[in-house]
Amino acid sequence: MIKLPGLIDPHVHLRDPGGTHKEDWDSGTAAALAGGFTTVCAMPNTTPPIIDAAALEMSLTAAAQKARCDYGVYVGATLENVDSATTLAKRVVGKKMYLNGTFGTLKMEQLDAIVAHCASWPADKPLLAHAEQHTCGAAILAAHLAGRSIHICHVSRAEEISLIRTAKDKGIKVTCEVGPHHLFLCLDDVQRIGTGRAEVRPMLATASDRDALRANLEVVDCFATDHAPHLLSEKDSPAHPPGYPGLETALALYLDLVHAGIITIDDVIDKCYTQPRRIFNLPEQPNTWVEVDPDATWVVRGADMQTRAKWTPWEGTTLRGRVERVVLRGKVAYEGGHVLAQPGTGRLIS
Ligand code: NCD
Ligand code: ZN
Repeated sequence: MIKLPGLIDPHVHLRDPGGTHKEDWDSGTAAALAGGFTTVCAMPNTTPPIIDAAALEMSLTAAAQKARCDYGVYVGATLENVDSATTLAKRVVGKKMYLNGTFGTLKMEQLDAIVAHCASWPADKPLLAHAEQHTCGAAILAAHLAGRSIHICHVSRAEEISLIRTAKDKGIKVTCEVGPHHLFLCLDDVQRIGTGRAEVRPMLATASDRDALRANLEVVDCFATDHAPHLLSEKDSPAHPPGYPGLETALALYLDLVHAGIITIDDVIDKCYTQPRRIFNLPEQPNTWVEVDPDATWVVRGADMQTRAKWTPWEGTTLRGRVERVVLRGKVAYEGGHVLAQPGTGRLIS
């Protein structure tokens, strides 16, 4: 058995408010605990989106009633809230800019708006961007010109990790995350998974993109699941929204990289705890840890998961490494397949 700190997932979609048939603060934080995560940071592409005080209040009220692990929320950037988002800075983990299209309505591609959001957001608060290909370059430059740091979400391509490496080498303040699916899956897997189910943003890339991420893990500051639950009925419909649930399979996949000799267990702690704590200014959770059997094998079954999505792109796969017990602030929150922490016991971190 190995003992890890309470893991942090800085990028999850918990669909509360507005999409609670897919997930809510209760089911999403139960999935987090089952996966070994004791802190999650939730993205603002809910319905309504978290772009103003009223929507933030809705999200935080629901979270206070339902969350089983600790949590924070991001505010989304829009053309209209360049100044008003700043009034919410103390109550959110950071601000998220969506520079490419994805699930929800928050796309903002105008260069002057990106520049203005970089300038207006407090320098000591995290600024995040969904920024693929050209917009990755735009986001890094706009933040650099504003004299501030930026965090690039779910990097998926060789050209992006290469650009980030070069920017870091030049002393530019950029950090980035990679999701487990982009480390393990590529376009060659789409047919097996199914077109609708495989849909995700950023889309799965080529095998050489996937390999470039694996070859540049020292440039990757942290891991993030981008847990993006949708029901199978939605994934299998013509509209097939993008996104995979990821909280309950992530740690076993990270441990697979350890078993394969690609990273060490200390790297897992660094990318799932130390670096996310530093990048997102997260407080310490006293008396909190995760007990993991690194050699226990299990067969992934979406139907058995805590997430309301009840499916996974890893269905039927045998993974090695299982969360046995999670202790959050001295109390057993998860043990032997059962979530014991009650709704409302999670705390707001900001
Ligand atoms: C996310 C979602 O469903 O909210 N989907 C996804 O494919 N990753 C949105 C996002 O992170 O782009
Ligand atoms: Zn996301």
